Amino acid sequence: MALAQSPRGPPGDPMTSLLITDIGELVTNDPQWASAGQSAGQSADVARLGLVRNAALVVEAGRVAWIGPASLAPQADSQRSVAGRAVIPGFVDSHTHLVFAGDRAGEFAARMAGTAYDGGGIATTVAATRGASDEELRALLTARMAELRRQGTTTVEIKSGYGLSMDDELRLLRLAAEVTPHVTFLGAHVVPTEYAADRAAYVDLVTGPMLAAVVEQGAAAYVDVFCEPRSAHAFTEEEARAILLAGRSAGLGLRVHGNQLGPGPGVRLACELGAVSVDHCTYLDSDDVAALAESGTVATLLPGVEFSTRHPYPDARRLLDAGVPVALATDCNPGTCYTSSMPFVIALAVRELRMTPAEALYAATAGSAATLGLRGRIAVGEPADLAVLDAPSHVHLAYRPGVPLASALLG
Ligand code: NIG
Ligand code: FE
Repeated sequence: MALAQSPRGPPGDPMTSLLITDIGELVTNDPQWASAGQSAGQSADVARLGLVRNAALVVEAGRVAWIGPASLAPQADSQRSVAGRAVIPGFVDSHTHLVFAGDRAGEFAARMAGTAYDGGGIATTVAATRGASDEELRALLTARMAELRRQGTTTVEIKSGYGLSMDDELRLLRLAAEVTPHVTFLGAHVVPTEYAADRAAYVDLVTGPMLAAVVEQGAAAYVDVFCEPRSAHAFTEEEARAILLAGRSAGLGLRVHGNQLGPGPGVRLACELGAVSVDHCTYLDSDDVAALAESGTVATLLPGVEFSTRHPYPDARRLLDAGVPVALATDCNPGTCYTSSMPFVIALAVRELRMTPAEALYAATAGSAATLGLRGRIAVGEPADLAVLDAPSHVHLAYRPGVPLASALLG
């Protein structure tokens, strides 16, 4: 099926309005439409998607200007039919490490043959990334961004973390900022090999001059730390606390890699310090779940990592049943999960984490958006970050795993 477009206004004019019509199922994530679904007897998870059937919407100046039944759609300068397909909010990939050079396919192959992941391979990517020019990194990043967009992702968070020196971390942050406003300083990804004998000196560098330069240059909105006492390369609770407190005092929002490789302090620390999100949450005890439920810190699940490391999947049902806000993201990185596909993550969340298709889509849009201060919904006045599915409903994202159904709709 080709997407039909019939221009009626001056092409290229940013004020030109575009009517997108013949939308079989529009997922809005908007409470206004959700209440209509609930009165129509939909289950709570489906109602929350705020579905509008046989819908249309108007986009003007990059924002949604009208939403409603196609039969009531107003005139616009141009019109595009999606021929009964589903339109959804573009995926929000709120956890990626997209700025890197090099290849760790050999490490992946060894892991599939039984070698455990411990974070040690990060040093390989750090060496390759430090050795790459800005142009090389920019070309790799641009290609990865295009790959994400082709699969329906319209908003991306990008972390540094493969520089681990003052200049290289700032360089990766600058490159990330060329493609997204959602940039995170991950100088505390691992202790770089040159500091292995003096970890405290590296924590002092991250919390001192590195953080000061990041803040002075306005290079990042968030600070993140890989808190994992089980890994010799990552950071202990005490080190992570110092890094997060320094970031918070400097005005950055907090994100945490926590409880990825085993039970540990990361989740509780994130909740205690008011992090916007704690990511992985693979190994949780009841205190962790209680802390998440009380704090409002979002639990961001990254099931592509468990797929690619053969760790057990996180217990999403336990979190959802406890009322914890849950997000889904790819964690796209060369070590633990080299996929850029949010549809793949949704399929895993449904099949392996036992989330419903509606819960998984909500977590991959509104849920992940919340960690970036966004709403991830299609509503009048919101940015027109839209994705189209070559399918009649959102359920097909998990029902047809591996099939490239989703793509960004505009631009
Ligand atoms: O989120 N856990 C720490 N960082 C990444 C992996 C990075 C790498 O192995 O290169 C993650 O899984
Ligand atoms: Fe990560």
